[in-house]
Amino acid sequence: MPEAIESTKVNNKPMNFKGKDFIQLADFSKEEILHMLDVAVELKSLQKQGKPHPYLSGKVLGMIFEKSSTRTRVSFEVGMLQLGGHAIFLSSKDIQLGRGESIHDTAKVLSRYVDGIMIRTFGHETVEELAEHASIPVINGLTDLQHPTQVLADLLTILEHKGKLEGVKMCYIGDGYNNMPHSLLEGAVKVGMDISIASPAGYLPDGNITEQAIEAAKQTGVSVTITHDPVEAIKDADVVITDVWTSMGMEAETEQRLKAFASYQVNEELCKHAKDDYIFLHCLPAHRGEEVTAEVIDGSHSVVFDEAENRLHAQKAILKLLLD
Ligand code: CP
Ligand code: NVA
Repeated sequence: MPEAIESTKVNNKPMNFKGKDFIQLADFSKEEILHMLDVAVELKSLQKQGKPHPYLSGKVLGMIFEKSSTRTRVSFEVGMLQLGGHAIFLSSKDIQLGRGESIHDTAKVLSRYVDGIMIRTFGHETVEELAEHASIPVINGLTDLQHPTQVLADLLTILEHKGKLEGVKMCYIGDGYNNMPHSLLEGAVKVGMDISIASPAGYLPDGNITEQAIEAAKQTGVSVTITHDPVEAIKDADVVITDVWTSMGMEAETEQRLKAFASYQVNEELCKHAKDDYIFLHCLPAHRGEEVTAEVIDGSHSVVFDEAENRLHAQKAILKLLLD
């Protein structure tokens, strides 16, 4: 039997995630997100000590990919293996979904074979539809609107480097109408971080997600700033984040985006306005010379490879909590 995980309760309240979906961070309370991070820390410690932790022995995760991936695919697959289970890579190019089989039927069929489904797709409604019809947990591995597993790993990385989340100021510069800033908005305000986002006109974050984040921020007493001014956004930031200017599926807009975001590059000049000990995060893949300079992403403030590693540990926590 694997060791018992200590973090089974938060504030003496038992947490029950079994059978739930993981679609967006707004669906979880502050305590639940902190609990996921606690479990991630414990699983990371077990793995670093070389202690087996087969909590998901015999369990199988189906992983549907309608878009490319390096980190998400490998970290989920390795995570399932380290937890004693197995993952099946299902490219939409190969399965019948890609030839027009419905999400409804795919959800019903996979629910008869596997214990959980991870999906990376385009429309956010596809994940919601899959979750509605599946009788097993569904995990969002990125949609056009949200990238919640990445942001859980980002929070873990910030916690490790800053020693806390509450009171930390996060800033995001670049494409605001994008999966990363949306999930960052939801995650940051829930755990008590101030967040500021700077994007050009026409690329601000989704209105509904912003409104909900502002409401959630009232509960935790933090600030949400949405601006066109990168200097205003980055001022005194502890954490500086950017993402690609052209996300997957937007390739036809590349030229227009290069122009729109030209003055939103994260470079050393801009980062002078952040705190002296700021950390730089990027979910990767990155385009050096576009959204970030090599000096920043390869410099001493960058923690992007710790962040990439933490995908493994954060997702193992999600898998354990949902499937165990
Ligand atoms: N950050 C991230 O999701 O990377 P992949 O696209 O390689 O999975
Ligand atoms: N915003 C990026 C994230 C890649 C992990 C995209 O959707 O392509």
